[in-house]
This record gives sequence, structure tokens and C-alpha cells, in this order.
Amino acid sequence: MRMVLMGPPGAGKGTQAAAICRRYGVAHISTGDMFRAAMASGSQVGAKAKAYVDRGELVPDDVTIGIVRERLSQPDATNGFVLDGFPRTVPQALGLDELLAGSGLKLDAVVLIEVPEAELVRRAVGRRVCPRCNRVWHLEFNPPPEPGTCSCGGELTLRPDDTAETVRARLAVYRERTEALKDYYAKAGILRVVDGSGSPQEVEALIAGALERCSE
Ligand code: AP5
Repeated sequence: MRMVLMGPPGAGKGTQAAAICRRYGVAHISTGDMFRAAMASGSQVGAKAKAYVDRGELVPDDVTIGIVRERLSQPDATNGFVLDGFPRTVPQALGLDELLAGSGLKLDAVVLIEVPEAELVRRAVGRRVCPRCNRVWHLEFNPPPEPGTCSCGGELTLRPDDTAETVRARLAVYRERTEALKDYYAKAGILRVVDGSGSPQEVEALIAGALERCSE
């Protein structure tokens, strides 16, 4: 399985990517997670990405395609992968097609998770993450056992780009630059759109059904 999971900020891409990867035994490749890890380690890529991520803007395509190229060359990606949050621009989609074609491969499916805007803001601003084990919680929809504390004991934090203002900026960027990919993948015949407004389990079942139809 080689697939892309698309959707606006807070749509549930990370949550659903983890579930799909468990189901199919493939690698979870999140460009957002890679940028956050690069920023935390103080690497050159992290330094280039920081200003963009903090403002909710897209990191330039050449930097982003570069980290995906390197990640796809790692052994765990040869079995298949879920790309979470990449591509987000048409040049990134073209770059991905080129990377895969270089190894005689192509995407099996692109799943777009759609959620109403008010719900997206609610999901993002209520998200809390554990810097120790990276687990993602939600104050309302998936609360931690103890307020402010992860099940591993780590102190939960708000992602700096999860303030209501930055979430709205990220949503505007999504509408301007990423929505065009819907047409790109619809024309390729591999786009499946799912309603992401139900519970995580309901959305997981819709995605599983969409992926089964792709392989028929
Ligand atoms: P990234 O980390 O990818 O952010 P995003 O796309 O804005 O997506 P999110 O992580 O906010 O949300 P999600 O859809 O994964 O939702 P989640 O499952 O966590 O990117 C961050 C930044 O990095 C970008 O702004 C950009 O600067 C840069 N970047 C990344 N990729 C790039 C690229 N390709 N090109 C250029 N720049 C790039 O769920 C959200 C919350 O809701 C959680 O608390 C969860 O528990 C809860 N939840 C999930 N599903 C449900 C549900 N069904 N019901 C109720 N609650 C739910």
C-alpha cells in the first residue's frame, strides 16, 4: 500500500495514518512530524523550516521534497507507506510522482478527509501532545487520564501552531495552495473523499472501505 492522506489542519490525518499503518504494516511518513523533529534537534532543515511552521505557512517545496526523498529511501518504506500531509502543492505532487517513477512505482490511493471548518478549529486548539512519547490527546474528544499529563507521565503541551489565529492561517493556506490537489488526483483516478466528521473509529471504517474499493 502506497498512499497519501490529505486534508485540512486538524482533519485527523495523523490519527488515521497511525491506524492505517497498523492495519497494513506500512511506514507512517508525516512531513509535519519530520519538521518538528528537525526543529527540536536544531538541524539545518529545522532552522530553514522554523519560521514557516511557526507562522502556519508552507515550508518551501525544495526543502520538503528533499526530506521526503531521503525518508522514502529508508528500508521501512520499501514495504509501502502512508504519506501524511505531503504533498501539499502541485509541484510537490509532481515531485512525488517523479520520485516514485524513478523506482518504477506509483501511488495506489489518495484519501482526502473532509471536516467542517468550525470542527477543525475545535480539534486543533484542543489538541495536546506529549513531547516525551509523541502521543496525541484532545482535551474534549480524547482526554488524558490526568489533566495535563500523558499516560507515560510526560507533561502535555500545546503545539505552538495550534493557537486559534495560526490554525486559521493554516486553513487559509490549505484552501489557497493544497485544495488544487483534489483535481490533480481526481484526474489521475485515485482520489477517494471521506467524511471525517464522525468519531475516529467511524472515520477509520470509512477509509478502510474506500481503500478496499481501490484494490477491487
Ligand atoms: P502538520 O503537522 O502536517 O499539520 P496539519 O496538516 O496542519 O495537520 P495537523 O497535524 O494539525 O492535524 P491532523 O490532520 O494530523 O489531525 P490529528 O490527527 O492530529 O504540519 C505542520 C506544519 O509543517 C505546516 O503548517 C507547515 O508549516 C509544515 N509542513 C508540513 N508538511 C508540509 C508540506 N508538505 N509542505 C510544506 N510545509 C509542510 O487530529 C487533531 C486533533 O483532533 C487531535 O487532538 C485528535 O485527537 C483529534 N481528533 C482526530 N480525529 C478526530 C475525530 N474523528 N473526532 C474527534 N477528534 C479527533
